[in-house]
Amino acid sequence: MLSPTFVSLVGARPQFVKVAPVHHELQERGLQHHIVHSGQHYDDRLSKSFFDDLQIPSPSVNLEAGSGGHAEQIARIIERLDNALDQLRPDIVIVYGDTNTTLSGAVVVSKRPEYLVHVEAGLRSFNRNMPEEVNRVVADHLSHLLLAPTTAAMKLLEEEGLASRSRQVGDVMVDVLRNTTKLVSEHPPEMPASWTNSDDFVFATLHRAENTDNPARLRQLINRLGEMHHDVRLAAHPRLTARMSEFNIVAAGGLSLWQPLSYPQTVHAISRSFAVITDSGGLQKEAVLLGRPCITARHETEWVETVAAGWNLLAPNLNASLAEWIRRPRVPLSDEVFGDGHAARNIVDEILDGWSHHRD
Ligand code: UD1
Repeated sequence: MLSPTFVSLVGARPQFVKVAPVHHELQERGLQHHIVHSGQHYDDRLSKSFFDDLQIPSPSVNLEAGSGGHAEQIARIIERLDNALDQLRPDIVIVYGDTNTTLSGAVVVSKRPEYLVHVEAGLRSFNRNMPEEVNRVVADHLSHLLLAPTTAAMKLLEEEGLASRSRQVGDVMVDVLRNTTKLVSEHPPEMPASWTNSDDFVFATLHRAENTDNPARLRQLINRLGEMHHDVRLAAHPRLTARMSEFNIVAAGGLSLWQPLSYPQTVHAISRSFAVITDSGGLQKEAVLLGRPCITARHETEWVETVAAGWNLLAPNLNASLAEWIRRPRVPLSDEVFGDGHAARNIVDEILDGWSHHRD
């Protein structure tokens, strides 16, 4: 019986969500799994709270790369990860999603003997100005095994000549979302002080560099959110808070700013809201899977299925007729789009199969 050792490299908030079901699946099968944290996210609200709520064990190693320019952050992760892998000596390294942590892991492992797996492969925005697009293209092309969440992602991998290394496994975020939705409906999380339990609000987040780092653009988005004649509750990433204060932008009208929420608080907030406005990839899907229309403050999305099904509207400047669009009737998305909540099981099956052939 084969018993390889696994390392998962994670570092940013959405990666903690993705590693949780993979860890639990590996643990159930008695396989050794080390979590290496790059340190890209270090605030408790972006990191520790996710480990606690999703019952992920503490990382075996924290590379403490912290914030900085892209090159600086990536360089720190690359050098420190190489040393950590020398110590941990895994057989398989899994990288997740499209952050600078993902790119760094793929580059390091491509120069080492370990089997490299990319979870959430095959997503494309076709916008190379986004750091995430470069990160995911590099990770896909360097990995031995590409695990795609959707049929659309598989098709894109095929078009890039990567079909023989790609497998469709479903979306691991569905696994987590289903478990958390059940927990949250049984035991609603404590929400921040002064959060009223109304069902009549829009839940919002904004954190992407292309929205936060240009003062004129950020001012326009914040103004639009304030002018919506609704209670708009925005859970603010530290990057957004920092840029708003740097550019002297204040929330007005119906817009209120909140600290980043924990994962259960986020799921609770989405389920109680009547619509979501975001530029996050994960939140677009979470909204749609929970049956909430989503308005995406971007020119493009990697989750094209949500737009095709009429649940997601691309409104980069938030100036379409949003209220009318939100009220449209819709049919729920079928399980076939993002998988049935067993992506982690498929992921581990495919990795064990791929690795055993790779080492022969
Ligand atoms: C990163 C990912 C993005 C992902 C997001 C999830 C890249 C290029 N971007 O964006 O794809 O959607 O994570 O949240 O990898 N900061 C803190 N505390 C922290 C971490 C960051 O205050 O714990 C602040 C710092 O000012 C930092 C800024 O946020 O400079 C940006 O952090 P960074 O990790 O570079 O990118 P994110 O915007 O979080």
